[in-house]
Amino acid sequence: MQLTILGGGGFRVPLVYGALLTDDHPDRVREVVLHDTDATRLASIERVLQQMGADHDDPPRVRASTDLDEAVAGADFVFSAIRVGGTQGRTVDERVPLSCGVLGQETTGPGGLAYALRTVPVAVHIAERIRELAPDAWTINFTNPAGIVTEAMSAVLGDRVVGICDSPIALARRAARACGVDPTTTALDVDYVGLNHLGWLQGLSAGGTDLLPGLVADPQRLATIEEGRLFGPEWLRALGTIPNEYLYYFYFTRDAVASILDAEQTRGEFLLQQQDAFYAELAARPDDALATWRRVREERDATYMREAREEDEARDAADIEGGGYEGVALAIMAAISRGEAADLILGVRNDGTVPGLPLGAVVEIPCRVDADGPHPLRVTAPTGHRLGLMAQVKEVEQLTIRASLERSPALALEALALHPLVPSVTTAREMLDGFRRRSPQIGALLGTP
Ligand code: G6P
Ligand code: MN
Repeated sequence: MQLTILGGGGFRVPLVYGALLTDDHPDRVREVVLHDTDATRLASIERVLQQMGADHDDPPRVRASTDLDEAVAGADFVFSAIRVGGTQGRTVDERVPLSCGVLGQETTGPGGLAYALRTVPVAVHIAERIRELAPDAWTINFTNPAGIVTEAMSAVLGDRVVGICDSPIALARRAARACGVDPTTTALDVDYVGLNHLGWLQGLSAGGTDLLPGLVADPQRLATIEEGRLFGPEWLRALGTIPNEYLYYFYFTRDAVASILDAEQTRGEFLLQQQDAFYAELAARPDDALATWRRVREERDATYMREAREEDEARDAADIEGGGYEGVALAIMAAISRGEAADLILGVRNDGTVPGLPLGAVVEIPCRVDADGPHPLRVTAPTGHRLGLMAQVKEVEQLTIRASLERSPALALEALALHPLVPSVTTAREMLDGFRRRSPQIGALLGTP
């Protein structure tokens, strides 16, 4: 089996390779093809993988290429984890909204829309090459903003593209542990519904009993998990659900903006520095590639979503461990290629499972995955503010896809202005001008004002 990883020079690629190394099934992935547009980063990550495989018998072969067609041809599975515009682009996505007093974040709010504007055409091109060169392949999309990008790719690949994220599964597992249930040994019925980075745990059953009502009413147990500390027990009790951590940016918008503005660097600025130093260190000391990667990874995980925590609040080991998107990816491949059925929360097209959202819109819901791919499971239909928020953000996402593909500044403005985190059409105009001026890819796509 061949797995092609797009964005193969990316920092999190060793996580995927590490997951493959735990697989000893005879029908496992035997060949990994890394693709990246940056040959230096590609060579660096290839070296990390070589060192990871060194003490394993028969590790998957690794091949690297900067040619997309060559990398995609013959793939059984394609993972896409690219970052169009690089980390530099991420800093622009953050700073432009922040300069208008609006949330500046990688995927949520106007920053995520800017990221989508420049990523969608590239993702659609990739989808077309996959359809042409590996028509039977399944594509697993981690490229952010994953909901928008998966939906854009699904116009070409249909149900053969699946979006993944680690945050819903991490939430479900943390909630189970807080209820004293070991998610690795107990079968759980997870009632989660949302868009990517905009969802809610609505129920969590083990052996037919819903554990969630007890959990949201128990401040002590809530305090043991990240979401409990993030949202606070009173708010979770009021909601009766546990939101995905990214809902922090919606429920505590002012606090988040103030905290991000208060810090010296945005997350993107921090990572730009950290990652540049990492790749430089790998080039300078290639023999230590794996050890360097491990150290930098720890630092990256420990500082994740720092704006949402108290200054001296460290992350719990169990929180950091989370769901692991590499585990989700491996489970999808095992389910499809060898029929090892698994229940996973995935980004798939709405087939009516979420009433009130457009059919075909990519939503994030529990699915049973088997040899034929993912099949959505039943979820409680969201109502009230959950449905309202999802519907509004989904419309914004769909406008963004159209804006990008039709190269339309007017549609881009509409998308930005209708986003619930954008306070005024005037602010949307200012931000769009900023994105067009400061992001070379968005400038090329929509023109510079
Ligand atoms: C989580 C999200 C990803 C996101 C990442 C950002 O894992 O699910 O979608 O890309 O966090 O982490 P970073 O270290 O890049 O800030
Ligand atoms: Mn995610």
